[in-house]
Amino acid sequence: MNTIKTYIREHKQRFLDELIELLKIPSVSADKAFKKEVLLTADFVLESLKKAGCDKVEMCETPGYPIIYGEKIIDKNLPTILVYGHYDVQPADPIELWTSPPFEPIIKKTDIHPEGAIFARGSCDDKGQMYMHLKALEYMTSTGNLPCNVKFMIEGEEEVGSESLAWFVPRNKEKLANDVILISDTGMIANDIPSITTGLRGLSYVEVEVTGPNRDLHSGLYGGTVANPINILSKMIASLHDENNHITIPGFYDAVQELSKEERAEMAKAPFNLENYKKALDIDAEAGEKGYSTNERNSIRPTLDVNGIWGGYIGEGAKTVIASTAYAKISMRLVPHQDWREITELFKTHFENIAPKSVKVKVTPHHGGQGYVTPIDTIAYQAASKAYETTFGKTPIPQRSGGSIPIVALFEQELKSKTILMGFGLNSDAIHSPNEHFGVWNYLKGIETIPYFYKYFTELN
Ligand code: BES
Ligand code: MN
Ligand code: MN
Repeated sequence: MNTIKTYIREHKQRFLDELIELLKIPSVSADKAFKKEVLLTADFVLESLKKAGCDKVEMCETPGYPIIYGEKIIDKNLPTILVYGHYDVQPADPIELWTSPPFEPIIKKTDIHPEGAIFARGSCDDKGQMYMHLKALEYMTSTGNLPCNVKFMIEGEEEVGSESLAWFVPRNKEKLANDVILISDTGMIANDIPSITTGLRGLSYVEVEVTGPNRDLHSGLYGGTVANPINILSKMIASLHDENNHITIPGFYDAVQELSKEERAEMAKAPFNLENYKKALDIDAEAGEKGYSTNERNSIRPTLDVNGIWGGYIGEGAKTVIASTAYAKISMRLVPHQDWREITELFKTHFENIAPKSVKVKVTPHHGGQGYVTPIDTIAYQAASKAYETTFGKTPIPQRSGGSIPIVALFEQELKSKTILMGFGLNSDAIHSPNEHFGVWNYLKGIETIPYFYKYFTELN
């Protein structure tokens, strides 16, 4: 199958041009103003699946954005791989921090990507990584190298909680039946240190509201006599961590499994340089839960973070005012076995309990999902590992990630299949941040590696 290298060399420019066209459409699922563009992107994906060689493609309507389904079934007795990805992207804000417009893709060289990287919202998360699978399929179908059956399920609401997909999957179990699920929506350690993501964290996302007096007040006339919701909210939030950066919500850690010494020692072997980490983020010191390393803090430990906080006067100049209400958005990253609904309840009860009588508190849950761990003693993992060995010349390191793809746990529950996370992005690719980019090398390496997964998975089955 060394023809894949040749195929990529011959079609490289077209592969880039096509991705650039896809990246030009601002498919921001969070903002209704982009509805038309999200739907246009769905059309684009559908057409691309057709062109890549699917026998059947469908625009599956849902209560929200459509799910694109495609398949090529060559022999019912052969294994079936289900590829999942998402065509929606995060909002581009803050737009003024982009060095080039987020929906005008441009290839620029960086220190980490000397061969160039495509700068655009969604380039890495997830349009670029999703599109690798379409190009890998194109290669396999057009050269007679497709060894097994394949199904595609590309959704448009991943960045807002995959509600419609959670509706779709239980209703289409037969259609989606598969032997393994393959996803490229994560990262790897470095271009010369391939790794396979073996875990995702769960998530509970809530919004809180603290209300004091029934209107904004003069902070001189009333200051000192009534509770200031912003002061109170700040105190309440601060109390959610103790001096060891342990989360103080009663019961929060009950379901958390401690890893064995051996497992932690194995994890610690993954290359990591704290000095470079700090330098890349312009920080003088790292911070986190006492007793755990940085790599443990961002993967095997749960966390609680304020994602946004507002209230009172934030306009120009000074206004002397005690706000009536203060707000915050809070996310908790969870580890396997922590149930996100239970955690959301624990948070709600605790937050209401710690509120002083002088204010009223409202907790509104947003979305959430369970964490996931991929077993490494499976044919699927072996096949992935061999695929990287073939194209990177190195055995990939299994590594749990801190990010979340909540729908993966639901796949396991509903479809009874395991997921393999072959991500080709880097943490420095700035997903969700201004100047998101995806290395051209990474894009092509992904296209090169994927067909080997198909080959080895079929052979090992
Ligand atoms: N692709 C990311 C998740 C990811 C990135 C996992 C890198 C591991 C490594 C996904 O699009 C994402 O952003 N997920 C959200 C959760 C979702 C419910 C909004 C997240 O992790 O914040
Ligand atoms: Mn993603
Ligand atoms: Mn994302």
